Amino acid sequence: MSHLWTIGGSTVFLCLIQCIVSLENGLARTPPMGWLAWERFRCNTDCKNDPENCISERLFRTMADLVVSEGYAAAGYEYINVDDCWLEKERSPTGQLVADRARFPRGIKSLSDYIHSKGLKFGIYEDYGNYTCAGYPGVLGYLQTDAETFASWDVDYVKLDGCYAHPSDMDRGYPEFGFNLNQTGKAMIYSCSWPVYQIYAGMQPNYSSIIQHCNLWRNFDDIQDSWASVESIIDYYGNNQDLVVPNAGPGHWNDPDMLIIGNFGLSYEQSKTQMAIWAILAAPLLMSVDLRTIRPEYKAILQNKKIIAVDQDPLGIQGRRIYKHKGIEIWSRPITPLFQNYFSYAIAFVNRRTDGTPSDVAVTLKELGLTSPTGYKVMDLYEDVDYGVLTPQTKIKVKVNPSGVVILRGDVQPDYNRRLPFYTTQKTVYNPLNQVFRVRTNGF
Ligand code: GLA
Repeated sequence: MSHLWTIGGSTVFLCLIQCIVSLENGLARTPPMGWLAWERFRCNTDCKNDPENCISERLFRTMADLVVSEGYAAAGYEYINVDDCWLEKERSPTGQLVADRARFPRGIKSLSDYIHSKGLKFGIYEDYGNYTCAGYPGVLGYLQTDAETFASWDVDYVKLDGCYAHPSDMDRGYPEFGFNLNQTGKAMIYSCSWPVYQIYAGMQPNYSSIIQHCNLWRNFDDIQDSWASVESIIDYYGNNQDLVVPNAGPGHWNDPDMLIIGNFGLSYEQSKTQMAIWAILAAPLLMSVDLRTIRPEYKAILQNKKIIAVDQDPLGIQGRRIYKHKGIEIWSRPITPLFQNYFSYAIAFVNRRTDGTPSDVAVTLKELGLTSPTGYKVMDLYEDVDYGVLTPQTKIKVKVNPSGVVILRGDVQPDYNRRLPFYTTQKTVYNPLNQVFRVRTNGF
């Protein structure tokens, strides 16, 4: 079934029911949400000198506790994921993977049980090659054994990296390990690094195969703790959107890498921008942050339910950059509800300028592709501003802070709401003379 989607003046067809056959393990119908160790805790194995921050069962148990007690689980974060550096350097005499005995003294099954006892799910990391990126044993030569080991540990999510492997082997190898995972009968989300390694090797990834075999996949560089890194990722997905956007959908997602909100490198504004753009991108929301010390304003960003709802929209259509000029970008994502052939939309205005003062952006809903004659109920997703129901001709004006974002959603109105504006008082600061709406800057 295809639907008309009009954006920026041009009309495209979208498949609402899968255009391409996808991995049907029934998982990741919306982008996975959780916590992943890598960006913040890296390969710190020094439990002797740094017991609270080293990669150990203690760290993952603590983060699982906090995900529940601090409200992240209630906001939708579900997976507690181990990354690299959890292994012993050698397999067992019978060829099984073994967790580092000093840092995971009770073993992985016990950690997995603990995480499940908190109502959460458990993820683990491996690598298709001979070694993981940090030099621990990879799965090559042990695909079936390792898939069975993960199933016996009740693993719910596997990230399979691609170091120490030949990218041209991946077209066969990633599906093979996915097959081995499926054969265990234990449902596990399958996160692949298959395309990114092929892109770096100058190959064109076969996305129709990747979609069929993986629930999510990395397309681009590792995120680092800086705004420059976040910007490079935003640019990658904007510049390559024609290639990558059509591949996303329920069960199969592009993964722009972890959320680094609450760490050292992003300002408050930049953190809001990362969260908003990741939601527009229908990205997995995997926090990599120390939940023991995160400041409340960053926690509030990560737990913003309105933005999470955009990320988790059931249509699963990844958004696009629809405007880019002089440091101002507009990003748009079609979301529910639908009325007739019209989508609702999340719209993010991003200011990439560094000239220190907020920039005004004024645009009509129609110019943003919101053309339903029945109008749209528009609200801001960070600020407490409700614009009421607006027609496509209405011009909205937003003030976007340097390296910041304003994110709105416009819910298409059904017919019977058409007359609503005549009966209700607008709660917004509406100037009937020039039809411009101003965003209050009253903070959270
Ligand atoms: C690669 C991956 C990262 C992380 C590290 C671990 O660089 O892309 O996300 O898993 O390996 O070594």
